[in-house]
Amino acid sequence: NQIKVFSPATVANVSCGYDAMGFALETLGDDMIFTKTDSKDVVISKIEGANLPYEANKNVAGVVALLMLKDSKANFGLDIQIFKNFKPGSGLGSSAASASGTAFAVNQLLGNKYSNLELTLFAMQGEVAACGSAIADNVAAALYGGFILVKNYEPLDIVSIPTPTNLVATIIHPQIEIKTEDARKVVPTQIDLKTAITQWSNVGGLISGLHSNDFDLIGRSLVDLVAEPNRKKLIPLFDDVKQSAIAAGALGAGISGSGPSIFALSKNLETAQKVETAMDAVYKNSGIDYSTYVSHIS
Ligand code: HSE
Repeated sequence: NQIKVFSPATVANVSCGYDAMGFALETLGDDMIFTKTDSKDVVISKIEGANLPYEANKNVAGVVALLMLKDSKANFGLDIQIFKNFKPGSGLGSSAASASGTAFAVNQLLGNKYSNLELTLFAMQGEVAACGSAIADNVAAALYGGFILVKNYEPLDIVSIPTPTNLVATIIHPQIEIKTEDARKVVPTQIDLKTAITQWSNVGGLISGLHSNDFDLIGRSLVDLVAEPNRKKLIPLFDDVKQSAIAAGALGAGISGSGPSIFALSKNLETAQKVETAMDAVYKNSGIDYSTYVSHIS
């Protein structure tokens, strides 16, 4: 009657794959506790670590839970406790962690009624509540784990991509909040054919590199001509962090989701830790608060 879940932070876009790629972090995420109740209501009884609405229909977790209980004609209600270990507006899929953790947990309490694809569709409604757009890259990464490709939106088609086991992510999270809704407004709605060709070639390169453990190809493919040039101005010291990460041995680096977090990928833990030191050195005297994380992809 009660389930406790860990719902991972996720890195969406992964440079070239705007709205189409994402991966889940092994060691960073939210903890959530779901308890069945007799009331048929959804009550958010505890939120720690962030200032989020308690009203179920305004809270991402509440929205997803209400939808699923209604769709399944469940004969129970829910009490939800949320323990956020990373901040909303970080670019690490905070709302997606709440939405996908809820979708996963409610499905367990319903006796595994829904597929992962159906859970992704429910969780995407949480993203609509959070930022106004039904984006799948963060929620699918959290629900499927590892690296995912959103192969298609309508109908939704999610593909899991194998990942080299020793691929490690380093993240720096400057503690300024960027709302996804705002960051989406600076991304162009149209791009020219030459830009599109480069972008889809990089997506192909990244997928191929992940399949074949070709770290050099992964690095050469972590290039974004669509979102990064427009969004990086929202992120203090972005170019310096990216250059320092690559100089320290990272395969590549870019904006995590809609920012402000910056991610880098490395081919082993030792390099990822050197990259963390290099990123840290850029921000150390900036006067901006920040956190850094090193995590395997899982
Ligand atoms: N793909 C989305 C974006 C991720 O970059 O806006 C944020 O949820």
